[in-house]
Amino acid sequence: MNQDEMKRAAAEAALEYVEPGMIVGIGTGSTANHFIDLLATVKGKIDGTVASSVASEDRLKSHGIPVMDFNTAGELSLYVDGADESTKFLHLIKGGGGALTREKIVAAGSEKFVCIADDTKLVDVLGEFPLPIEVIPMAQSMVAREIVKLGGTPELRTGFTTDNGNIILDVRNMEILNPVEMETTINQIAGVVTVGIFAHRPADVLILGSESGVKVLT
Ligand code: A5P
Repeated sequence: MNQDEMKRAAAEAALEYVEPGMIVGIGTGSTANHFIDLLATVKGKIDGTVASSVASEDRLKSHGIPVMDFNTAGELSLYVDGADESTKFLHLIKGGGGALTREKIVAAGSEKFVCIADDTKLVDVLGEFPLPIEVIPMAQSMVAREIVKLGGTPELRTGFTTDNGNIILDVRNMEILNPVEMETTINQIAGVVTVGIFAHRPADVLILGSESGVKVLT
């Protein structure tokens, strides 16, 4: 199985969490795209979806899957999304696709967060993947200086604007030993919209596609 097949296998296993009448939160990225394509096969069963990005909204609509406004949807029963890294405690790094803020909002408003990935994403310590931070443009230099004080090496994601009109700093050289504390620390820097650490609200279930089949961590 190649990496893409492992992502698809994880997405397929997540379909089992979809129940009749649900409004399902939908993440962003290649693994979430597999889930969207598979969800199309059972679209008559759900009441609708809430998308975490314009890209996912477009893909959902291309399949004729109804997309709802998060403000009118109420609390969601289920959120399905990928990740860039996960620990066995289901703390995540997300935002490789730049949709981290809306992803964090939808995750926070969902009863169950099912994370889908291939098993190369499972790590002992978060931080080898460059940590994305969404930042208000005027605060770019100041936030970058604060990140350097924390030991990180920030780099502007060039030619990229988030769905919210902001920039992304990708931070290398971060060994995130305490994800909950680091999420709080970075979120408190003025100008930071969202850091891509998902530890205060981790995943509830992690489905990993691997060479030997699908593994589920809770
Ligand atoms: C999007 O902003 C990210 O949080 C994605 O969930 C993450 O980058 C995973 O992407 P893939 O499914 O493409 O690996």
